[in-house]
Amino acid sequence: MKKTGLSRREFLQTSVGAAGALLAARTVILDPEPIGAYQNPVAPSDRVRFGIIGIGMQGSGLLGSAITLPGVECVAACDLYDGRHTLAREIVNNPNLPTTRRYQDLLANKEIDCIIAAVPDHWHKQIVVDTLSAGKDIYCEKPMSHTAAEGLDMAAAQQKTGRLVQIGSQRVSSVIYAKAKELVANGAIGDLCMIEGSLGRNDPTGAWEYPPPPDLSPQNLDWETWLGTAPKKPFDPYAFARWRCWKEYGTGVAGDLLVHLISGMLFAMGWNDPPKRAMASGGILRWKDGRNMPDVHAALFEYGNIPVFMRLNLGTETAEIVRIMGSKGFLEVTEFAATHSPQPGVDLAPSYYAYGFPRAMREQYFKQWHAEHDPKPGQEPLAEAVTYRGVSYDEVKPHLWKFFQAVRSRQPLTEDAVFGNHAALACHMANESYFRKSPVYLDPASKSIKS
Ligand SMILES: NC(=O)c1ccc[n+]([C@@H]2O[C@H](COP(=O)([O-])OP(=O)(O)OC[C@H]3O[C@@H](n4cnc5c(N)ncnc54)[C@H](O)[C@@H]3O)[C@@H](O)[C@H]2O)c1
Repeated sequence: MKKTGLSRREFLQTSVGAAGALLAARTVILDPEPIGAYQNPVAPSDRVRFGIIGIGMQGSGLLGSAITLPGVECVAACDLYDGRHTLAREIVNNPNLPTTRRYQDLLANKEIDCIIAAVPDHWHKQIVVDTLSAGKDIYCEKPMSHTAAEGLDMAAAQQKTGRLVQIGSQRVSSVIYAKAKELVANGAIGDLCMIEGSLGRNDPTGAWEYPPPPDLSPQNLDWETWLGTAPKKPFDPYAFARWRCWKEYGTGVAGDLLVHLISGMLFAMGWNDPPKRAMASGGILRWKDGRNMPDVHAALFEYGNIPVFMRLNLGTETAEIVRIMGSKGFLEVTEFAATHSPQPGVDLAPSYYAYGFPRAMREQYFKQWHAEHDPKPGQEPLAEAVTYRGVSYDEVKPHLWKFFQAVRSRQPLTEDAVFGNHAALACHMANESYFRKSPVYLDPASKSIKS
């Protein structure tokens, strides 16, 4: 729009100075989560003994982090691939760490208080339900479930057994998201209007084209058990390493990546609900390697009356961001920072609509506007953008620490099976909408996804 020779943006830029708004920026460094408030030595009765199921890409990191926490000890490790028994022993630096291919051995072990599970998505439900039924607590990786129906069973198992569940979207325990939550709760963004998030990658590893372990074979891997409830198929090292690419085992970019954006958003907003509706689109546009899950996936959700637009793209590298927008400005959450950019939400200049007035009328309007609105010297509004920087929201130690503390204290956890289910449902709805090529909604009576 250039009717007057000035675009709206140019007009606002030239007028803001006259109206006297000042813009400033500030950075605040956030203290890390106070891990270690519980210091060694810890009384033997207070030590938490865990077993780990799945010591692959994520499980190896969780194990390495968990054993650095005070008063926490790994008792045994389980994996279907023997190479990962060796890896577990290397990580804990104990050649005698008991290892097994059968997770049921860990559940029967009375020395074990709780389980960490980092197995592919199609195994989450069975391991969670069996662990809870065995009277143990569980930290299970995200997304909580492989299907919407599984999520209901898992939440019911948590309620029935009264044991603790924490799902592994670690952002919920980060100081960055804690600050975002505090800002939102304090009204920093005003009336909520919209939320958007996006994440992009552009390399084979980012697109899950992982190299299978070179020695992998049916001799050192229990392939039949690995398949679990998935359709039978001959031994396939690529399915083992790249399971995220296929819906039979994984949940695509939605369950792998979107779930982090959604969990962070739910936590920051103080929400604990699934979306009402979702509409998604995308395709296999970049990685035509035989996968059946989309590598480009855009989803529009409705949370109450708020539109939430999320974009996942394995074809172009872009920074990961969640942006919460309201009448008083916006809040951007990125890996190392939450930035609050306030907006006054009022006119800082006379309306450019007045360029449609005849000259005398326009000049009179401008004069009157300035007389009524210009701040007095020294009273100019200060719009200060503040960036809160802290430890990466991908750091798992604070999340593990909260879990182990809850195992000791029996206090409820934020990211329990109900929260985990709500976050996972958004992912399942995005996937269902993509495959059905139609909007979907969550039927409140059956809690199932319908189109
Ligand atoms: N929170 C995060 O940031 C994050 C990051 C990566 C992965 N993850 C999640 O962690 C989970 C594991 O992902 P990954 O990349 O480590 O997978 P992976 O394939 O590297 O490792 C999974 C391991 O589980 C083992 N396994 C499978 N079924 C089993 C069973 N029934 N009993 C015992 N062991 C079994 C496999 O043999 C394998 O070694 C997934 O749910 C994934 O979404 C979370």
